[in-house]
Amino acid sequence: MTALLSVEHVTRRFGGVVALDDVSFEVPTGEIVGLIGPNGAGKTTAFNVITRLYRPDAGRVVLDGRNLLRTPAHRVVRRGIARTFQNVALWPSLTVIDNVRVGAAARSGGRTPLEVLEYVGLAGVAYRPAAGLPFGTLKRIELARALASGPRLLLLDEPAGGLNHEEVEELGRFVRGLREDFELTILLVEHHMNLVMGISDRVFVLNFGRRIAAGTPAEVQRDPAVIEAYLGDEHAAA
Ligand SMILES: Nc1ncnc2c1ncn2[C@@H]1O[C@H](COP(=O)(O)OP(=O)(O)OP(=O)(O)O)[C@@H](O)[C@H]1O
Ligand SMILES: [Mg+2]
Repeated sequence: MTALLSVEHVTRRFGGVVALDDVSFEVPTGEIVGLIGPNGAGKTTAFNVITRLYRPDAGRVVLDGRNLLRTPAHRVVRRGIARTFQNVALWPSLTVIDNVRVGAAARSGGRTPLEVLEYVGLAGVAYRPAAGLPFGTLKRIELARALASGPRLLLLDEPAGGLNHEEVEELGRFVRGLREDFELTILLVEHHMNLVMGISDRVFVLNFGRRIAAGTPAEVQRDPAVIEAYLGDEHAAA
């Protein structure tokens, strides 16, 4: 097993809040890895440290054997990392396809912006402004933008946001397909447990900035610390 990404003993504080407290985890090449935990656990902060938006107070982030903390934020995409944002970060006045072109310009991927829009099922709105489209559609545009940069590692922050029950089920199949079709390694933050547990090869659990569990979905679901901190009894595996 080779880790494409390793987060090693990372700590990040905001004033008195320790958003990440000596957190380590590995994302092996070709896997889908779930990162879960209650609100405020530090999941998005972990994404922000990996993508170099936030500098950690301690620890290292290693991509493909090289220290990512020496890579400036604007070069992270060129190292092969792309992400989506929990709250969506698009240019509302730009057309859908121009938003995707931003990703393609950052690093040329294997497919054109229109091809990735077709892939995510949004070719029909390519020339409309992003503003005013439903939240679930905006999340898919962000995904298209991320794919357009031809990443090796894709970070998805709550991709099921704004989706209904059936769409969440469909998303699970879609993310697995993405891994195959784009030869990706995926780090997935999600609160929909059926989705995370259904598609992840392994899962790491954060609570108040600390890693409290790691393992296969089945192992994590029956871990008493995870049940107490996050899942509750109704989600626990029998
Ligand atoms: N830029 C910031 N400034 C101050 N505090 C921050 C900042 N970013 C995160 N935090 C704090 O760090 C902690 C972790 O936040 P984070 O957004 O990483 O949680 P999360 O696990 O993504 O939660 P959620 O599931 O609600 O998205 C929280 O206490 C949050 O308030
Ligand atoms: Mg978050």
